[in-house]
Amino acid sequence: MILVTGGSGFIGRRVTSRLTEDGNSVRVLARGQRRADQPSGVEVVRGDVVSAEGLSEAMSEVEKVVHLVAIIRESGSQTFEAVIRQGTERLVEAAKVAGVRKFVYVSAIGAQDNPYYPYLHAKWAAERAVALSGLKYTILRPSIIFGEGDEFINALAGLVRHNPVVPVAGDGKAKFQPLWVEDLVTCIVACLDEDAHGGQTLEVGGPEHLTYEEMLDIVTEALGKSRLKAHVPLAVMRPLAQMMEWVLPKPPVTRDQLKMLALDNITETDSMMLSFGVQPRSLADSLDYIKR
Ligand SMILES: NC(=O)c1ccc[n+]([C@@H]2O[C@H](COP(=O)([O-])OP(=O)(O)OC[C@H]3O[C@@H](n4cnc5c(N)ncnc54)[C@H](OP(=O)(O)O)[C@@H]3O)[C@@H](O)[C@H]2O)c1
Repeated sequence: MILVTGGSGFIGRRVTSRLTEDGNSVRVLARGQRRADQPSGVEVVRGDVVSAEGLSEAMSEVEKVVHLVAIIRESGSQTFEAVIRQGTERLVEAAKVAGVRKFVYVSAIGAQDNPYYPYLHAKWAAERAVALSGLKYTILRPSIIFGEGDEFINALAGLVRHNPVVPVAGDGKAKFQPLWVEDLVTCIVACLDEDAHGGQTLEVGGPEHLTYEEMLDIVTEALGKSRLKAHVPLAVMRPLAQMMEWVLPKPPVTRDQLKMLALDNITETDSMMLSFGVQPRSLADSLDYIKR
């Protein structure tokens, strides 16, 4: 049995599909906040890594774990510390009790021991919990992931569709390395092999480094539009983000995300080929889903 935590999310649904197509028994752990059609045969256990509810039930007879639970913005008890750091610590303990043979954790490029970036700091702490667990593990650190149902590229598409002049936070020069979701799933599945990449932390990204502004241009072209861009200084964006955090349940941008724009979100462009023998798809060639 393979447990996919966060299996109802954007990446998780692709992972459960691929694993069931390959003939595996699959169980999903999530709180059940979102509707997620799972392939037939997938067991769904409602649970919460913050309260630990459902963890031992979810872990029963599990041999391998893909740990995908995380949040990108905090809300109430769903803090980075509670969900990402403590949630991973709890899951690791449950996995040890269950005798799990391989633990694959999807972290993020930029994970670091620096509390100035709370999301990346929690990811770093979660990585340590996995690495020090004594379990056989592989940690993947991807750049941003795109594909049907993603948040990032769909948000850019929304900006382009609805604004004759598209706002760009700061100078728009922060670099990303967008990776197609199915390419990431290929890496995750490969890492589930007990002997593959044991004890390694691997950064993975797509075939090219693109600035935020270049991604916006690619999305604009894919939508067949022509748009002017207006750079909004970060000093102006920060109070706007603060206000959106106060009034919106799901703000389009948070102060934490603005801080992270100071960091490039990239690795080597041949990272996928070197570690997994995969030539990843480029963003421009894979945007049909935003045109529907
Ligand atoms: N998407 C990207 O561009 C990207 C880039 C780099 C790294 N990653 C990493 O990849 C992983 C998956 O990302 P994603 O984009 O698929 O995220 P997502 O769509 O937001 O899915 C998150 C999953 O976690 C579950 N979850 C949230 N809080 C929970 C809790 N307290 N207890 C149990 N389950 C909980 C959610 O289901 P419920 O809400 O129903 O509980 C959902 O299934 C994350 O670790 C993320 O940091 C993603």
